[in-house]
Amino acid sequence: MSADYSWYAALRHTIRKNKRTRENSYFHLATVASDGSPSNRAVVFRGFLPGTDSLKIVTDTRSKKVPELQDNPVCEVSWYFSHTREQYRIKARAEIFKQATSLERAESWEKLSEQARAQFFWPMPGKVYDPQQSLEQDSDLDLKQPPASFALLILEPFSVDHLQLKGSPQIRRVSVLENTVWKNVDVNP
Ligand SMILES: Cc1cc2nc3c(=O)[nH]c(=O)nc-3n(C[C@H](O)[C@H](O)[C@H](O)COP(=O)(O)O)c2cc1C
Repeated sequence: MSADYSWYAALRHTIRKNKRTRENSYFHLATVASDGSPSNRAVVFRGFLPGTDSLKIVTDTRSKKVPELQDNPVCEVSWYFSHTREQYRIKARAEIFKQATSLERAESWEKLSEQARAQFFWPMPGKVYDPQQSLEQDSDLDLKQPPASFALLILEPFSVDHLQLKGSPQIRRVSVLENTVWKNVDVNP
């Protein structure tokens, strides 16, 4: 294990190396449902919270993941990068920002395209589809301010499993946050 290994520096490097393919900016976010079963979905990485190693995603407060994270904020990101053939599995605690006073939430809204913003005005996600209720963007919508359905999720990592498939032998590093210090160990792939 190289003494100066940092999963955060490694992940930033990996993101840069894989930027040319849009699909590499999606990861899977697993949560725990109220009956204890796993719940998993693809989401878009929206960058790091400035000055931290926390990951940002945006979501609809009416989607299942939000009540699931309110009940149990522990979640896991699984992120595969196709060019460098690396996987990061990141266990984190999620914080949900849905209040109008959150500056970070407002900034995340600003960065969304109009098309992405309009989705937060769609009918309740997961309910039976009603053709009377339009999913199209309504030109009368006020897209300047985020609606109550818009939430920013901040995922604060506490354990990271980084697997590099390229090369022989493969490299697998586990980093665990212990009393604010990251401890790294190489494990068998
Ligand atoms: C490529 C891709 C990117 C997606 N990005 C997001 C996202 O950033 N935020 C989000 O809430 N849902 C996103 N979705 C939709 C989710 O996968 C999921 O269908 C939705 O959030 C409802 O999930 P839930 O009911 O389990 O919370 C994305 C789906 C795909 C296929």
